[in-house]
Amino acid sequence: MGDVTEITLPSYDLTGKVALVTGATSGLGRRFALILAKAGARVAITGRRLERLTELKNEIEALGGTAAAVALDVTDTASIAACMAETEAALGPLDILINNAGMNVQALPADVTPDGFDTMFDTNVRGAFFMAQAAGRSMMARGTGGRIVNIASIGARTVLPGLTIYCMTKAAVAMMTKSLAKEWARKGINVNAMCPGFIETELNSDWFASEGGQKQIKTWPRRRLGVEEDLDGTLLLLVSDHGRFITGSLFTVDDGQSL
Ligand code: NAI
Repeated sequence: MGDVTEITLPSYDLTGKVALVTGATSGLGRRFALILAKAGARVAITGRRLERLTELKNEIEALGGTAAAVALDVTDTASIAACMAETEAALGPLDILINNAGMNVQALPADVTPDGFDTMFDTNVRGAFFMAQAAGRSMMARGTGGRIVNIASIGARTVLPGLTIYCMTKAAVAMMTKSLAKEWARKGINVNAMCPGFIETELNSDWFASEGGQKQIKTWPRRRLGVEEDLDGTLLLLVSDHGRFITGSLFTVDDGQSL
């Protein structure tokens, strides 16, 4: 036990770090990019809707931050390679990946089509894996380690009605998180997953505006839907000095929705 007067608190400061957020054009990804920039990181904001990326880049720069808007379709491995190259040319070598891009094709199990199934797995699982691989390769080549945060869902561990395939994809992301954490532990790369509960974004706003969605909210202990800001603390924990001893963990951040 050291002298408490000598204790230095770890920092959330990300000055000098380069971060890449996938699917940053809306919702949680957009918020993650803003928070990382606010903490001092240079941020690659990536996605398919380029006009939205430019707007976000301007917003980050207005806050005094640095951002690069880079095209990315996570279902296309050539696009992943090009995005990594463009990011590192613009901002420097990658330290932090937020593997956020994800989607859902709404269908009850009896109605799921092979195309819908493949689209979800291509984006949520295959896309997340090849992004992590690209980031991990770059971090390992430099030997300086890094942080990967995969955005899973409470659906990785809890049945969410009407979301069978989505939950299957997020369970795969959870196992990928633990496996990569172990594989890359000695390389100094921390790999964790955030498992958010329901947060209002474009992914679900129609549902939560409906009578069924309003009823669902009333079944949760606090009878309220999350807002994007509710994940800021967990994000900063996992990418900053505070999280250096955390790897292979799945963080439920859901206001008790899954209890
Ligand atoms: P959103 O629909 O606003 O954002 C998803 C982003 O991923 C969009 O920017 C979209 O364009 C992008 N994306 C989709 N396919 C892509 C592709 N092929 N290549 C590149 N980008 C692609 O939804 P939201 O809610 O912000 O979701 C973000 C992540 O959080 C997703 O992985 C989602 O599954 C997860 N999540 C969301 C929760 C919520 O309640 N909103 C709860 C738990 C997890």
